[in-house]
Amino acid sequence: MRTPVILLNFKAYPEAMGPKAVALAKVAVEVSDRMGASIVVAPAATDIARVAHEVRIPVFAQHVDAVEAGARTGWVPPEAATAAGAAGTLLNHSERKVPRKDLEDLIPRCSALGLEVVACAGNLREAESIAGLSPEFIAIEPPELIGGGVSVTKAKPEIVSGAVERIHRANPKVDVLCGAGVKTGRDVSRAIELGAVGVLLATGVVKAKDPRKALTDLAKGLR
Ligand code: G3P
Repeated sequence: MRTPVILLNFKAYPEAMGPKAVALAKVAVEVSDRMGASIVVAPAATDIARVAHEVRIPVFAQHVDAVEAGARTGWVPPEAATAAGAAGTLLNHSERKVPRKDLEDLIPRCSALGLEVVACAGNLREAESIAGLSPEFIAIEPPELIGGGVSVTKAKPEIVSGAVERIHRANPKVDVLCGAGVKTGRDVSRAIELGAVGVLLATGVVKAKDPRKALTDLAKGLR
């Protein structure tokens, strides 16, 4: 995905399910076109295909399972996400943690399928450890700030700059995103000043009274 970037995670919010997922993704396309901003959307698994069919910005899965394709009822292997039109996937989000052995399996498999991986880490030690697995991106997101009113770039700027330093020291090929409480263009520009190449966010847009207005303000921070 083109950086700097805003990755909008729809999570399992009712405001972004089914037809509302398509509507929100179309708002992201409009803001992306108008602002020249790189915006990626991550709808629920059940909405990947319908969103990817409707929009031309990258669509990411929120998770994929470390199982082979085949007799795996109810599981979503990376091949299924690719077939649905996903360009990438989050992995190990603090709301959907993944065992280390699954990360070791999934990251190379996703890479071989052309699925970009944004591996999430809740702290610096985890971020540094995941860097050795060479995902394209690592997103540092302190769980206690997720969904809250204060951006990680304001509450814990040192965890963003620290993640950039330690991840790049462990693996210069990995780019860093940050997330948790990011809601304004200033939060986004601050993230970039701290060395991140983008942000992961959800409530600031999905739960906004006016998602288009909120996303437009956030996109100004990419400039
Ligand atoms: O995936 C990003 C998400 O965890 C951040 O959530 O609601 O703090 O923007 P939020």
